[in-house]
Amino acid sequence: MDQILATAIVAAENAGAKIKEYFYNFNSVVVEHKGRNDYVSKVDKEAEQIIIDTILSNFPEHDILAEESGVQKRDSDFEWIIDPLDGTTNFLHQFPHFAVSIAVAVKGELRYGVIYNPMNNELFYAQHGQGAFLNHQPISVSHHTTLENALVCTGFPYYAFDYMDDYMKGLAAFMENTAGVRRPGSAAMDLAYVACGRVEGYWEFNLKPWDIAAGAVIVREAGGLATDFAKGDDFLKSGNILVANPEFHYAMHQLLSDNTRAELMV
Ligand code: 2AM
Ligand code: CA
Repeated sequence: MDQILATAIVAAENAGAKIKEYFYNFNSVVVEHKGRNDYVSKVDKEAEQIIIDTILSNFPEHDILAEESGVQKRDSDFEWIIDPLDGTTNFLHQFPHFAVSIAVAVKGELRYGVIYNPMNNELFYAQHGQGAFLNHQPISVSHHTTLENALVCTGFPYYAFDYMDDYMKGLAAFMENTAGVRRPGSAAMDLAYVACGRVEGYWEFNLKPWDIAAGAVIVREAGGLATDFAKGDDFLKSGNILVANPEFHYAMHQLLSDNTRAELMV
């Protein structure tokens, strides 16, 4: 296996093991004393440090962008984009749906993605040009093409509530035109679920690069499209992402743009 991919997988599995340990030793006294956010940031930080140590012991010259510790620039062609715990709110509520998400961009192009859910040991990964895998078996996006009978995923806005009316209009359109909308609470897992065909598509506004970078690689390698809301490649910049198989992506984009102000479709 490619050494970068192998390193990303080991890093995700080791960070996931640490997160799982905290999940099962969720000490309510610590949470009460320190405040909920402190507790989770300790988990986030420890998991992130495991990932960074693993990367740097193999690739000390690589750049890193991580949710907790920010940017480490070393002028490398390789940049690791890390979310140690995507789905923090779920974790805090002992709702076992969250993941470690690790991507690598080479010369600015997303090339590797690993998403690991430690609670059920599901490991999703992809390398550009090599296909996408779940627990080492090849995966593919769903081949469903119509809104009718489709199951879709989204995330609700958690800030910038001034866009709420636009968001609700788009959400209502999906509720009215599909078999159902799910809101599991981890962007990385939502992307992984599109990649393996459990849901037909996913859209969300205003995310951060580390929420979506790995998932975008995995969806693309599973045969799907990952774009911003203008069908371009700038989702890491705009934070808006729409993913699905190519035909269903077209249908989702139509419905979203019919129900969202044009200036938000970026
Ligand atoms: P996080 O758990 O790493 O924060 C859910 O819509 C997505 O939004 C998740 O991937 C989540 O990632 C991200 N998100 C970022 N900040 C959030 C917040 N304050 N509340 C809920 N989700 C948040
Ligand atoms: Ca996240």
